[in-house]
Amino acid sequence: MTRIIGVVSGKGGVGKTTLVSNLGASLAKDGYNVAIVDANLTGANLGLHYGLISYPISVHDVMKKNASLSDAVYKHPSGVDIVPASLSFEDILDTPPVNIGNEIKTTFSDKDYVLIDAATGLDRETLNAIDMCDEFIIVTHPELPTISDALRTKSIINKYEKKLSGIVLNRVTKKDELKKDYIASFFKLPVLGVIPEDSSIRRSIELKNPIVLQNPKHKISLEIRKIANSISGREAKMESLSVWEQIRMTLVGRPKIKGANP
Ligand SMILES: Nc1ncnc2c1ncn2[C@@H]1O[C@H](COP(=O)(O)OP(=O)(O)OP(=O)(O)O)[C@@H](O)[C@H]1O
Ligand SMILES: [Mg+2]
Repeated sequence: MTRIIGVVSGKGGVGKTTLVSNLGASLAKDGYNVAIVDANLTGANLGLHYGLISYPISVHDVMKKNASLSDAVYKHPSGVDIVPASLSFEDILDTPPVNIGNEIKTTFSDKDYVLIDAATGLDRETLNAIDMCDEFIIVTHPELPTISDALRTKSIINKYEKKLSGIVLNRVTKKDELKKDYIASFFKLPVLGVIPEDSSIRRSIELKNPIVLQNPKHKISLEIRKIANSISGREAKMESLSVWEQIRMTLVGRPKIKGANP
Protein backbone atom coordinates (compact mmCIF):
# COMPACT_ATOMS: atom_id res chain seq x y z
CA MET A 1 0.00 0.00 0.00
CA THR A 2 1.21 3.51 -0.82
CA ARG A 3 2.38 5.48 2.21
CA ILE A 4 1.63 9.18 1.90
CA ILE A 5 4.04 10.97 4.21
CA GLY A 6 3.87 14.69 4.92
CA VAL A 7 7.04 16.55 5.83
CA VAL A 8 5.96 19.40 8.11
CA SER A 9 7.37 21.96 10.51
CA GLY A 10 6.26 24.76 12.78
CA LYS A 11 8.61 27.44 11.51
CA GLY A 12 9.58 28.00 7.88
CA GLY A 13 13.01 27.47 6.43
CA VAL A 14 13.96 24.57 8.67
CA GLY A 15 14.75 22.14 5.82
CA LYS A 16 11.49 20.42 4.80
CA THR A 17 12.11 20.72 1.07
CA THR A 18 15.73 19.66 1.46
CA LEU A 19 14.56 16.58 3.36
CA VAL A 20 11.81 15.71 0.87
CA SER A 21 14.17 15.93 -2.11
CA ASN A 22 16.87 13.85 -0.43
CA LEU A 23 14.65 11.33 1.33
CA GLY A 24 12.82 10.72 -1.95
CA ALA A 25 16.10 10.10 -3.77
CA SER A 26 17.39 7.89 -0.97
CA LEU A 27 14.27 5.69 -0.94
CA ALA A 28 14.40 5.45 -4.74
CA LYS A 29 18.06 4.35 -4.55
CA ASP A 30 16.94 1.53 -2.28
CA GLY A 31 14.57 0.33 -4.99
CA TYR A 32 11.35 1.88 -3.75
CA ASN A 33 8.90 3.49 -6.12
CA VAL A 34 8.71 7.13 -5.01
CA ALA A 35 6.86 10.32 -5.88
CA ILE A 36 7.37 13.72 -4.29
CA VAL A 37 4.72 16.43 -4.36
CA ASP A 38 5.14 20.15 -3.71
CA ALA A 39 2.15 21.20 -1.61
CA ASN A 40 3.76 24.47 -0.60
CA LEU A 41 1.55 26.49 -2.93
CA THR A 42 2.82 29.93 -1.94
CA GLY A 43 6.48 29.00 -1.48
CA ALA A 44 7.13 26.40 -4.15
CA ASN A 45 10.70 25.27 -4.80
CA LEU A 46 10.82 21.46 -4.62
CA GLY A 47 11.33 21.11 -8.38
CA LEU A 48 14.34 23.43 -8.26
CA HIS A 49 16.20 20.91 -6.06
CA TYR A 50 16.06 18.54 -9.08
CA GLY A 51 16.74 21.16 -11.75
CA LEU A 52 13.10 21.55 -12.78
CA ILE A 53 12.89 25.22 -13.65
CA SER A 54 10.24 25.54 -16.30
CA TYR A 55 7.35 23.13 -16.59
CA PRO A 56 4.01 23.56 -18.35
CA ILE A 57 1.81 21.86 -15.76
CA SER A 58 2.03 22.04 -11.99
CA VAL A 59 0.13 21.02 -8.89
CA HIS A 60 -1.62 24.41 -9.12
CA ASP A 61 -3.22 23.32 -12.44
CA VAL A 62 -4.35 20.09 -10.77
CA MET A 63 -5.94 22.02 -7.91
CA LYS A 64 -7.62 24.39 -10.39
CA LYS A 65 -8.90 21.28 -12.21
CA ASN A 66 -7.17 22.37 -15.43
CA ALA A 67 -5.09 19.20 -15.54
CA SER A 68 -4.98 15.74 -14.07
CA LEU A 69 -2.29 14.82 -11.58
CA SER A 70 -0.64 12.40 -14.02
CA ASP A 71 -0.06 15.37 -16.40
CA ALA A 72 1.91 17.15 -13.67
CA VAL A 73 4.38 14.31 -13.07
CA TYR A 74 8.00 14.81 -14.20
CA LYS A 75 10.26 11.78 -14.18
CA HIS A 76 13.80 12.25 -12.91
CA PRO A 77 16.59 9.83 -13.92
CA SER A 78 17.03 8.95 -10.23
CA GLY A 79 13.65 7.21 -10.43
CA VAL A 80 11.84 9.88 -8.41
CA ASP A 81 8.57 11.19 -9.87
CA ILE A 82 8.24 14.89 -9.15
CA VAL A 83 5.03 16.94 -8.99
CA PRO A 84 6.23 20.56 -8.79
CA ALA A 85 4.15 23.56 -7.79
CA SER A 86 3.98 26.67 -9.92
CA LEU A 87 6.51 29.45 -9.45
CA SER A 88 4.15 31.99 -11.01
CA PHE A 89 2.69 34.75 -8.87
CA GLU A 90 -0.62 34.64 -10.82
CA ASP A 91 -1.05 30.93 -10.03
CA ILE A 92 -0.44 31.63 -6.36
CA LEU A 93 -3.13 34.32 -6.39
CA ASP A 94 -5.84 32.31 -8.13
CA THR A 95 -5.33 28.81 -6.69
CA PRO A 96 -7.18 27.93 -3.51
CA PRO A 97 -5.77 24.96 -1.60
CA VAL A 98 -7.73 21.91 -2.72
CA ASN A 99 -7.51 18.46 -1.22
CA ILE A 100 -6.19 16.24 -4.03
CA GLY A 101 -5.58 13.34 -1.66
CA ASN A 102 -7.86 10.96 -3.58
CA GLU A 103 -6.17 11.80 -6.87
CA ILE A 104 -2.77 11.23 -5.24
CA LYS A 105 -3.93 7.82 -3.99
CA THR A 106 -5.27 6.77 -7.41
CA THR A 107 -2.51 8.21 -9.61
CA PHE A 108 0.26 6.92 -7.35
CA SER A 109 -1.29 3.59 -6.40
CA ASP A 110 1.86 1.89 -7.79
CA LYS A 111 4.17 3.89 -5.50
CA ASP A 112 5.62 2.70 -2.23
CA TYR A 113 6.00 6.27 -0.97
CA VAL A 114 4.57 9.66 -1.79
CA LEU A 115 6.33 12.43 0.11
CA ILE A 116 4.44 15.71 0.45
CA ASP A 117 6.38 18.93 0.98
CA ALA A 118 4.01 20.99 3.14
CA ALA A 119 3.72 24.71 3.72
CA THR A 120 4.51 26.24 7.09
CA GLY A 121 2.19 27.80 9.63
CA LEU A 122 -1.34 26.89 10.52
CA ASP A 123 -3.29 28.40 7.65
CA ARG A 124 -5.49 26.64 5.07
CA GLU A 125 -2.58 25.77 2.83
CA THR A 126 -0.83 23.85 5.58
CA LEU A 127 -4.02 22.24 6.90
CA ASN A 128 -4.90 21.15 3.38
CA ALA A 129 -1.49 19.48 2.99
CA ILE A 130 -1.93 17.77 6.37
CA ASP A 131 -5.37 16.57 5.28
CA MET A 132 -3.86 14.83 2.23
CA CYS A 133 -1.30 12.80 4.21
CA ASP A 134 -1.56 9.65 6.30
CA GLU A 135 1.62 10.07 8.36
CA PHE A 136 4.15 12.76 9.15
CA ILE A 137 7.75 13.64 9.78
CA ILE A 138 8.33 16.88 11.70
CA VAL A 139 11.48 18.83 10.84
CA THR A 140 12.90 21.26 13.38
CA HIS A 141 16.05 23.03 14.41
CA PRO A 142 17.28 22.15 17.90
CA GLU A 143 16.29 25.54 19.35
CA LEU A 144 13.36 26.43 21.61
CA PRO A 145 11.28 28.82 19.45
CA THR A 146 11.36 26.42 16.49
CA ILE A 147 10.59 23.45 18.73
CA SER A 148 7.71 25.31 20.32
CA ASP A 149 6.17 25.97 16.88
CA ALA A 150 6.78 22.35 15.88
CA LEU A 151 4.95 21.19 19.00
CA ARG A 152 1.91 23.17 17.85
CA THR A 153 2.07 21.37 14.50
CA LYS A 154 2.28 18.07 16.39
CA SER A 155 -0.91 18.98 18.33
CA ILE A 156 -2.76 19.66 15.08
CA ILE A 157 -1.70 16.33 13.62
CA ASN A 158 -2.84 14.66 16.84
CA LYS A 159 -6.24 16.34 16.40
CA TYR A 160 -6.45 14.77 12.93
CA GLU A 161 -5.60 11.43 14.67
CA LYS A 162 -2.92 10.73 12.11
CA LYS A 163 0.36 8.91 12.58
CA LEU A 164 3.53 10.79 13.54
CA SER A 165 6.58 8.81 12.47
CA GLY A 166 9.15 11.00 14.19
CA ILE A 167 11.30 14.10 14.17
CA VAL A 168 14.26 15.11 12.08
CA LEU A 169 16.66 17.60 13.64
CA ASN A 170 18.27 19.72 10.95
CA ARG A 171 21.15 22.19 10.86
CA VAL A 172 22.56 20.77 14.07
CA THR A 173 25.87 22.09 15.36
CA LYS A 174 28.13 20.99 18.21
CA LYS A 175 27.27 24.22 20.02
CA ASP A 176 23.54 23.42 20.25
CA GLU A 177 22.47 23.07 23.84
CA LEU A 178 19.31 21.05 23.28
CA LYS A 179 20.37 17.48 22.62
CA LYS A 180 18.64 14.72 20.71
CA ASP A 181 17.35 12.67 23.69
CA TYR A 182 15.97 15.71 25.45
CA ILE A 183 14.13 16.83 22.30
CA ALA A 184 12.76 13.29 21.76
CA SER A 185 11.36 13.28 25.31
CA PHE A 186 9.85 16.71 24.72
CA PHE A 187 7.97 15.50 21.64
CA LYS A 188 7.47 11.94 22.90
CA LEU A 189 8.51 10.87 19.41
CA PRO A 190 11.61 9.14 18.06
CA VAL A 191 14.32 11.26 16.47
CA LEU A 192 14.73 9.66 13.04
CA GLY A 193 17.85 11.60 12.14
CA VAL A 194 20.21 14.38 13.12
CA ILE A 195 21.41 16.34 10.08
CA PRO A 196 24.38 18.61 10.68
CA GLU A 197 24.73 22.19 9.51
CA ASP A 198 26.87 21.92 6.40
CA SER A 199 27.43 24.19 3.40
CA SER A 200 27.37 21.14 1.08
CA ILE A 201 23.58 21.31 1.21
CA ARG A 202 23.59 24.74 -0.38
CA ARG A 203 26.11 23.52 -2.94
CA SER A 204 23.92 20.53 -3.88
CA ILE A 205 20.92 22.86 -4.32
CA GLU A 206 23.06 25.06 -6.59
CA LEU A 207 24.02 21.95 -8.57
CA LYS A 208 20.30 20.99 -8.72
CA ASN A 209 21.13 17.52 -7.51
CA PRO A 210 20.19 16.23 -4.05
CA ILE A 211 23.26 15.55 -1.94
CA VAL A 212 22.41 11.83 -1.58
CA LEU A 213 22.85 11.55 -5.38
CA GLN A 214 25.71 13.99 -5.77
CA ASN A 215 27.79 12.71 -2.86
CA PRO A 216 26.35 9.47 -1.40
CA LYS A 217 29.22 9.09 1.09
CA HIS A 218 28.79 12.53 2.63
CA LYS A 219 27.81 12.46 6.33
CA ILE A 220 24.49 14.12 5.48
CA SER A 221 23.74 11.50 2.82
CA LEU A 222 24.49 8.73 5.33
CA GLU A 223 22.19 10.33 7.88
CA ILE A 224 19.41 10.68 5.33
CA ARG A 225 19.91 7.01 4.42
CA LYS A 226 19.39 6.23 8.09
CA ILE A 227 16.14 8.20 8.07
CA ALA A 228 15.05 6.35 4.92
CA ASN A 229 15.86 3.04 6.59
CA SER A 230 13.83 3.80 9.66
CA ILE A 231 10.88 4.91 7.53
CA SER A 232 11.02 1.81 5.34
CA GLY A 233 12.10 -0.59 8.06
CA ARG A 234 14.83 -1.74 5.64
CA GLU A 235 17.44 -1.95 8.39
CA ALA A 236 15.27 -4.29 10.44
CA LYS A 237 14.57 -6.34 7.30
CA MET A 238 18.32 -6.50 6.52
CA GLU A 239 19.08 -7.71 10.04
CA SER A 240 16.63 -10.57 9.68
CA LEU A 241 18.32 -11.76 6.44
CA SER A 242 21.21 -14.18 6.15
CA VAL A 243 24.64 -12.70 5.35
CA TRP A 244 24.35 -13.84 1.73
CA GLU A 245 20.91 -12.33 1.35
CA GLN A 246 22.19 -9.05 2.87
CA ILE A 247 25.08 -8.95 0.37
CA ARG A 248 22.65 -9.65 -2.48
CA MET A 249 20.25 -6.93 -1.34
CA THR A 250 23.11 -4.43 -1.05
CA LEU A 251 24.55 -5.30 -4.49
CA VAL A 252 21.28 -5.47 -6.39
CA GLY A 253 20.52 -1.87 -5.40
CA ARG A 254 17.81 -0.07 -7.24
CA PRO A 255 15.85 -1.95 -9.89
CA LYS A 256 15.20 -0.22 -13.23
CA ILE A 257 12.57 2.48 -12.96
CA LYS A 258 9.83 2.30 -15.58
CA GLY A 259 9.62 5.30 -17.90
CA ALA A 260 12.49 7.24 -16.33
CA ASN A 261 14.29 9.66 -18.62
CA PRO A 262 17.72 8.43 -19.73
N1 LIG B 1 21.70 20.81 7.03
C1 LIG B 1 21.80 22.00 6.44
N2 LIG B 1 22.96 22.70 6.49
C2 LIG B 1 23.06 23.92 5.90
N3 LIG B 1 22.06 24.51 5.23
C3 LIG B 1 20.88 23.87 5.15
C4 LIG B 1 20.68 22.58 5.74
N4 LIG B 1 19.40 22.20 5.49
C5 LIG B 1 18.83 23.18 4.78
N5 LIG B 1 19.70 24.20 4.59
C6 LIG B 1 19.44 25.48 3.90
O1 LIG B 1 18.33 26.08 4.55
C7 LIG B 1 17.50 26.72 3.61
C8 LIG B 1 16.06 26.34 3.86
O2 LIG B 1 15.89 24.96 3.56
P1 LIG B 1 14.53 24.43 2.95
O3 LIG B 1 14.11 25.25 1.79
O4 LIG B 1 14.68 22.98 2.73
O5 LIG B 1 13.54 24.71 4.17
P2 LIG B 1 11.96 24.64 4.20
O6 LIG B 1 11.56 24.20 5.54
O7 LIG B 1 11.46 23.84 3.06
O8 LIG B 1 11.57 26.16 3.98
P3 LIG B 1 10.10 26.75 3.68
O9 LIG B 1 9.36 26.71 4.98
O10 LIG B 1 10.36 28.14 3.21
O11 LIG B 1 9.47 25.90 2.65
C9 LIG B 1 17.99 26.35 2.23
O12 LIG B 1 18.53 27.47 1.65
C10 LIG B 1 19.05 25.30 2.44
O13 LIG B 1 20.16 25.56 1.64
MG1 LIG C 1 10.16 24.37 1.53
